[in-house]
Amino acid sequence: MKRGEVIRYGVIGTGMMGVEHIENINALDEAVVTAVSDTNADSRARGVQAADGEVAAFEDHVDLLDSKLCDAVVIATPNFTHVDVLADVLQRPVHVLIEKPLCTTVEDCERILALAADRPDGVVTWMAMEYRYMPAVAALVEHVHDGAVGQPRMVAIREHRFPFLQKVGDWNRFSENTGGTLVEKTCHYFDLMNLVLRERPVRVMASGAQDVNHLDEEYDGRTPDILDNAFVIVDYPSGARALLDLCMFAEATDEQEEMSVVGARGKVEARMPSNTVHLGRRGEHFIGNVEKSTAGDDRITYQGLHHGSSLIEHVEFAEAIRTGGQPAVTLDDGYWAVAMGAAAHRSIDLGRPVELSEIMQRDDDREAVR
Ligand SMILES: NC(=O)c1ccc[n+]([C@@H]2O[C@H](COP(=O)([O-])OP(=O)(O)OC[C@H]3O[C@@H](n4cnc5c(N)ncnc54)[C@H](O)[C@@H]3O)[C@@H](O)[C@H]2O)c1
Repeated sequence: MKRGEVIRYGVIGTGMMGVEHIENINALDEAVVTAVSDTNADSRARGVQAADGEVAAFEDHVDLLDSKLCDAVVIATPNFTHVDVLADVLQRPVHVLIEKPLCTTVEDCERILALAADRPDGVVTWMAMEYRYMPAVAALVEHVHDGAVGQPRMVAIREHRFPFLQKVGDWNRFSENTGGTLVEKTCHYFDLMNLVLRERPVRVMASGAQDVNHLDEEYDGRTPDILDNAFVIVDYPSGARALLDLCMFAEATDEQEEMSVVGARGKVEARMPSNTVHLGRRGEHFIGNVEKSTAGDDRITYQGLHHGSSLIEHVEFAEAIRTGGQPAVTLDDGYWAVAMGAAAHRSIDLGRPVELSEIMQRDDDREAVR
């Protein structure tokens, strides 16, 4: 597509995240939502209402795809549906932004990667990982890649937050639908670890449980089985290590997310929602006395629920569509993030460290983690 041409979007799944995508697209220049699809009539009506103008509404995503009304689609359906919806989308020459997690299992991700390998050049396939675009996170990554802390040795990410929200049909109450909390939620953080370290991990060890949340809920006679707190340690080939500290009954907190990276030269921290960045260089700064700044991004004209990061993701996705560019976040990035979450769950279940090579079946991945 050329600059100045309007990109026509279809949004598949117009629940909470689908509506955020529609509002982001409304905030873009030369972009319009021309179609939505949702199997739920109320969600579909909300999608139509959120779209800025005339929009076709479909119950079945295949009808949306066959309508030829869309140059690009966003998939924001429940996690367990991604594999089948993606299989239909990838067979057509339509640009796609797929919400995280790529799929709920490593096997499904591998099936999708095989299908995506045949996509024509210039058709953009983009894994939605908008945490990369949170201004404080983007600033932290830039500092690390500019060498501010030296070679990164330790990455620590803490998310202390509120319990999972209610979803349409309560799909997120069971691990079989989500992939498990460490796939569903924390794939974002595993992706950030890989991004900042610029390598793929070899091993994951984890401890976690469902201790507090959703234990008094019942759906068709079943109690939810979703983990609500965990520590996960990740080892990298360079010897760098990363830690995730997740607690989902910790909304009585100051910051929701804190990320730090430390190397021999110093330490950089990003904190959300304050969007602050702290940078300390050894020899120049000491405890309590570091450079403090607030991160921002002038392109953010709509905040949404993710500090404007999902708008920046759309700005970049649209730019890739217009220039025939490569996705900044690939399906392979999404696959690794799922595999790390799956390895963490397996480590909890087995009570031992899990090598990525145990669960990733593709030959080139086994080679990469050797
Ligand atoms: N990137 C993020 O930070 C972020 C945040 C929230 C959710 N998500 C992801 O977005 C996706 C949707 O989550 P949500 O919070 O909006 O859930 P939701 O339950 O609010 O909405 C999902 C919608 O998809 C619809 N749906 C189900 N099957 C469908 C199908 N085959 N075709 C079309 N529509 C279908 C449901 O009826 C519902 O309206 C999930 O994959 C979730 O992990 C990402």
